[in-house]
Amino acid sequence: MQGASKTALMVCAYRARISRWERPLFVDRWAEALAGEDGHAIARAFDTHWPAMESWMALRVAYLDRLVGLAVDRVGVRQVVILGAGYDTRAARLPYAGVRWFEVDHPDTQAAKRERLAALPGYPVDAATYAPCDFEREDPIDRLLAAGMSPREQTLVIWEGVVPYLTEAAVRATATRLASGLDPRSIVAFDCVGKNMADGARLNEQDQGTRAFVGDLAEPVRFGSDHITPLLAACGYRWVRSVGFDDLALQFLGDYDRDRLFRFQRIVLCSPSTPDTPWP
Ligand SMILES: C[S@@+](CC[C@H](N)C(=O)[O-])C[C@H]1O[C@@H](n2cnc3c(N)ncnc32)[C@H](O)[C@@H]1O
Repeated sequence: MQGASKTALMVCAYRARISRWERPLFVDRWAEALAGEDGHAIARAFDTHWPAMESWMALRVAYLDRLVGLAVDRVGVRQVVILGAGYDTRAARLPYAGVRWFEVDHPDTQAAKRERLAALPGYPVDAATYAPCDFEREDPIDRLLAAGMSPREQTLVIWEGVVPYLTEAAVRATATRLASGLDPRSIVAFDCVGKNMADGARLNEQDQGTRAFVGDLAEPVRFGSDHITPLLAACGYRWVRSVGFDDLALQFLGDYDRDRLFRFQRIVLCSPSTPDTPWP
């Protein structure tokens, strides 16, 4: 990635659109202003490559919001880390009492976000603590500890829309540090694309276009996996669950649409220890 992330603005624009659905799965009242016309322009251009992106974004955000709710209400988690936060507004949207939010991101994207937030009247900038970190070069746990995160407190980590853009080395290094540096009861949630999307092999024309589009935004897809458990086991995780796009659509939208394209995204939950609580 060179400079501030453009895909982060794009997904923020999708959150703004989804917030206007007749029956939205969530409402992000900050997304419209944060995305700006530049974010919407990127999203409109992406629509032509993968029309299902808006649905996927709605499901991904709704599922992860729900995970935060369960972590806080059922499990008593009081520390949430958002890795590769982009224009994420959960710290403002989900203001659970007593919960500390940490946002970690590439320094360029984080600086761009903070500039936009500063121009947004009423946004509670102090709801999160900000820690810059380039996952390709730096240790997120060191950055989080420097920012005041407690390594002895059960933590929920949301690593949303980031893993596909990292090298496998950075995915492994970051996942390994999270497993060893956080309280072992912590849960890490991330989304992942399939191997073909990352290496570009055996893709149909439409998926080639989707892959090329983000590559042209200087954020090429670099990591994908069809079977993530071996990597996570090697990184120190002992519990792994994953849920696919179709399953989430059925759960949240009540439909299974066979024509929905590029359905091989998954959300993965993992922990260094086996949780006592059932996760969704
Ligand atoms: C598609 S955006 C997702 C943003 C946010 N999580 C969301 O879902 O709205 C990708 C994010 O990954 C971050 N990212 C990409 N490469 C990174 C790196 N090497 N180190 C840290 N963050 C990185 C970008 O800065 C950006 O915020």
